[in-house]
Amino acid sequence: MTFTVDAAAYDRFMGRYSVPLAPRLADFAAIAAGQRVLDVGCGPGALTAELVKRLGADAVSAVDPSEPFVAAAQQRYPGASVQRATAEQLPFADDSFDAALAQLVVHFMADPVAGLREMARVTRTHGVVAACVWDHAGGQGPLGVFWSAARELGSSVEDESQLAGAREGHLGQLLREAGLHRVEETVLSVDVEHPTFDEWWEPFTLGVGPAGAHVAGLDATRQAQLRERCRELLPPAPFVVTARAWAARGHT
Ligand SMILES: C[S@@+](CC[C@H](N)C(=O)[O-])C[C@H]1O[C@@H](n2cnc3c(N)ncnc32)[C@H](O)[C@@H]1O
Repeated sequence: MTFTVDAAAYDRFMGRYSVPLAPRLADFAAIAAGQRVLDVGCGPGALTAELVKRLGADAVSAVDPSEPFVAAAQQRYPGASVQRATAEQLPFADDSFDAALAQLVVHFMADPVAGLREMARVTRTHGVVAACVWDHAGGQGPLGVFWSAARELGSSVEDESQLAGAREGHLGQLLREAGLHRVEETVLSVDVEHPTFDEWWEPFTLGVGPAGAHVAGLDATRQAQLRERCRELLPPAPFVVTARAWAARGHT
């Protein structure tokens, strides 16, 4: 999955959920001052911001394959090192970091085990590799209502439920396959309040990620049907979306 949208669109669509998720993943990975940490698939920098806050920009490196996201993260965190790269081919020497984290990225990797193995390679012995992916399979991620409405209205919907790490236990399995030790799993959860239905819906029309691509592929009538079905399935505004992510951490 390529993300060639601008950072502001990403912020409105997914950043609203990934910003509050970041401190939860950083806590789970026990990120604390004095460490050097790598943010893999940083996007415009939801987790990067949390790492800079905890460690100082000098101690933070980040990579992402998306040009606009790398440009945005470089601009937002000038003291951090942000480069264009994929998880599967990290441009760092062995043992460069105390920890390597991937927030909402494993399910987009071309080869998740290779990506996690690379994260382990650049992490020092006994360091931490941690990742999280929304519970798309259980419908408990932030896009659960959207994909449920989309499936009702169309037979050939490719939702995100089959992707790597999106079902219970799968992230842990992938970490073990990548050679990590003492793997532990948990659920991370965020609550995000939406003041109006339109504030919730409009970012789906910005073309971000698989959901944005799905909307962009519908004609105006089908888009309107999907929008209305979502409105029926959601509680009246204001409403809170509780989004759950599977998380796993392991040691090198
Ligand atoms: C849902 S966004 C998550 C961004 C950010 N970590 C956050 O929490 O907001 C997924 C990110 O993974 C990146 N990505 C896709 N394939 C990747 C790969 N093979 N290696 C590293 N990052 C990848 C995308 O460019 C995108 O920025």
